[in-house]
Amino acid sequence: MQNMRISFIGAGNMATSLIGGLIARGLPASQIHASDPGEQRRQQLQQDFGIQVHADNAAASAAADVLVLAVKPQIMHQVCTDLRTALKPGQLVISIAAGIESSCLARWLEHQSIVRCMPNTPALLQQGVSGLFAAAAVSQEQKNIAEQILNAVGISVWLQDEQQLDAVTALSGSGPAYFFLLVEAMVQTGIKLGLEEATASQLARQTALGAARMLCESPLSASQLRQQVTSPQGTTDAAIRSFQQDGFAAMVERALSRAAERSAELAQQLGK
Ligand SMILES: NC(=O)c1ccc[n+]([C@@H]2O[C@H](COP(=O)([O-])OP(=O)(O)OC[C@H]3O[C@@H](n4cnc5c(N)ncnc54)[C@H](OP(=O)(O)O)[C@@H]3O)[C@@H](O)[C@H]2O)c1
Repeated sequence: MQNMRISFIGAGNMATSLIGGLIARGLPASQIHASDPGEQRRQQLQQDFGIQVHADNAAASAAADVLVLAVKPQIMHQVCTDLRTALKPGQLVISIAAGIESSCLARWLEHQSIVRCMPNTPALLQQGVSGLFAAAAVSQEQKNIAEQILNAVGISVWLQDEQQLDAVTALSGSGPAYFFLLVEAMVQTGIKLGLEEATASQLARQTALGAARMLCESPLSASQLRQQVTSPQGTTDAAIRSFQQDGFAAMVERALSRAAERSAELAQQLGK
């Protein structure tokens, strides 16, 4: 990837995280381009990273071996249609837009080398996880490049079937919000149990961080870790039993299934 020239079309939150991650991993700024309508945003990127910036997407595309489409899904159709004539046959196109299928991108761009990704917000802290799907025309070398780019903001997993991106969206794409919801409820309950809000918040946040690190750093499964901290008849046991009696697993299943359905619905709407 060291000789690759990468252009970002749309230079918002996600693109900025990826650019920061790539530079932190040693990709020279001179090989990174970005286009965005916001003049202030372009200036900021130039100042922060020393990359080349463009107001014109076609100019950014012309400069690149790899194009990362990082605009909102709602404008992707228009952006792709405008880029169509600027694309070169060997270019790899990576889309990070939620819900736009690779077949739509291929149709809109009249281009076949497409990798579709579903990152998540912790990418902003280089702690993200992305699901990746490659269209049939993508070579192994191009897959390696896509993986290296997404790994600049976390880790990635390849999917064999594009429909699995709906499950990825439900699990990891929307997942950070589920943890935030749990922390919100824990803080509110901590307050009801007599804690100051600031104290409850500090306790809940640090507990989330500690638990996340144990999950990632321990060889044990989530279930084993839970059992390890749950003494029979103890306080954790009382809470877990209460969660289970209230149908916690079924509630999670319903919520994630609904998110996956919504992802498929949005893909249908956006792909028109
Ligand atoms: N943020 C996440 O956690 C996350 C997670 C998974 C996937 N994604 C996907 O990543 C993509 C980008 O998300 P984001 O959060 O980075 O959004 P964002 O911060 O809004 O970035 C999009 C950028 O594209 C610019 N833009 C608008 N019209 C453009 C055009 N015609 N050509 C080029 N650039 C244009 C926007 O400028 P203006 O602001 O001036 O319109 C903005 O700077 C989305 O498709 C989203 O689905 C994001």
